[in-house]
Amino acid sequence: MRTFIHGGTVVSATGSQLLDVLIEDETIVAVLQPGSTALGADLAAAADTVIDATAKYVIPGGVDGHTHMQLPFGGTEASDTFETGTRAAAWGGTTTIVDFAVQKPGQRVQDTLAQWHDKATGQCAIDYGFHQIIGDVNDESLKGMSELVGEGVTSFKLFMAYPGVFYSDDGQILRAMQSAGELGALMMMHAENGIAIDVLVEQALARGDTSPYFHGTSRPWQMEEEATHRAIMLAQLTGAPLYVVHVSAKQAMQQIVTARDNGQNVFAETCPQYLYLSLEEQLGAPGFEGAKWVCSTPLRSRAEGHQDELWRFIRTGDVTAVSTDHCPFCMKDQKELGVGDFSKIPNGIGGVEHRMDLLFQGVKDGRISLERWVEVCCTTPARMFGMYPRKGVISPGADADVVIYDPNGHTSIGLGKTHHMNMDHSAWEGFEIDGHVDTVLSRGRVIVDDGAYHGRAGHGRFIRRGLSQNLV
Ligand code: URP
Ligand code: ZN
Ligand code: ZN
Ligand code: ZN
Repeated sequence: MRTFIHGGTVVSATGSQLLDVLIEDETIVAVLQPGSTALGADLAAAADTVIDATAKYVIPGGVDGHTHMQLPFGGTEASDTFETGTRAAAWGGTTTIVDFAVQKPGQRVQDTLAQWHDKATGQCAIDYGFHQIIGDVNDESLKGMSELVGEGVTSFKLFMAYPGVFYSDDGQILRAMQSAGELGALMMMHAENGIAIDVLVEQALARGDTSPYFHGTSRPWQMEEEATHRAIMLAQLTGAPLYVVHVSAKQAMQQIVTARDNGQNVFAETCPQYLYLSLEEQLGAPGFEGAKWVCSTPLRSRAEGHQDELWRFIRTGDVTAVSTDHCPFCMKDQKELGVGDFSKIPNGIGGVEHRMDLLFQGVKDGRISLERWVEVCCTTPARMFGMYPRKGVISPGADADVVIYDPNGHTSIGLGKTHHMNMDHSAWEGFEIDGHVDTVLSRGRVIVDDGAYHGRAGHGRFIRRGLSQNLV
């Protein structure tokens, strides 16, 4: 199977150039100057599939380093399965996800990873890897970490939030970071002071402040900044590389910037919801509507300017990667668990389908460059999570995960428009994008083309990841 993509502008993290791309079976085998030789014409003639990418961008498939398909959480389960969630990802130009296996207290990490393999095997439309959540730091879990690294699960997430669910105390965090430091494995952190937040939540509810808006006000930025600082200090002491997930507060970013300026291996991830949405507009929507946007860390105040600051930090390079933290729950029977008590609303927003488009809109709006778009959505996540150069770049030897993106196309986002996630609403209803995902290839196979889906469950393979390639 030979595929030839010609006439397009190949965009990488370092530049953009008119180049033709030759794919054999699952792999990119050549990237060629167009018309420089007769070779191009010959290749086109000999190809089984020829894709005309004239006036379009040819980019590496998106790498979403933070998703939660069928996550058991908040008394229910995230509504996208590995099948529906990876299909939706493919529609939006994402060809790799890294999801989270979850260890709860009393379980062995190896067993929980096996459970997540069972959930995903044969279901995914695109390639996938796993991080491991450690919900019970003890001697056995710490030993399990080194076993998992050998199996291609090279990053571990801890929670400073959600006491009684995923929470680790500082001693547990210290021990897990010591292990990660020894292994060279990446420590991912949900940085919010969950103990103090639980007091604020209780006080809000006692005052009768029960609507979704108060989810936001009971998790103030100070709780994120403090936890971020604490995580950075513990990581510094142990030598563990630290990746702070879903950063939403500009003050937490400042802590990360300071650590990075000191040469520490600290990285920030943010998500489209923290770039575009806000406490006032979304969480403050009338009635129970705001439940659609209950996630943690929470959406922040636009008046305080977090959103603009996060865009700026993407530009400066201090935000390393943009993921979705895709964790969808329907309003009916799921988000509705929290009617009259915001603390019972399952936390999470679905968006795996829209990340590439939403960040491209940042290019159109002059907030980031074309190259930075590819860097934060494709290349750096691949490097951060040990998948480069197999993923995240268009170059010979890489997997043929390729997106043809039309900068003159248009995408209307919303339920019944662009939306293939298993949700009864869209957190992005009404968003209009000045661009369009035209064609998506996953390991050489066209899985989305011109508004039609050609993927299949089980095409996606588990990726055994190496250690992070993004450390200083
Ligand atoms: O609200 C969120 N973020 N839900 C998913 C779990 C997590 O904390 O990442
Ligand atoms: Zn989290
Ligand atoms: Zn998450
Ligand atoms: Zn189009």
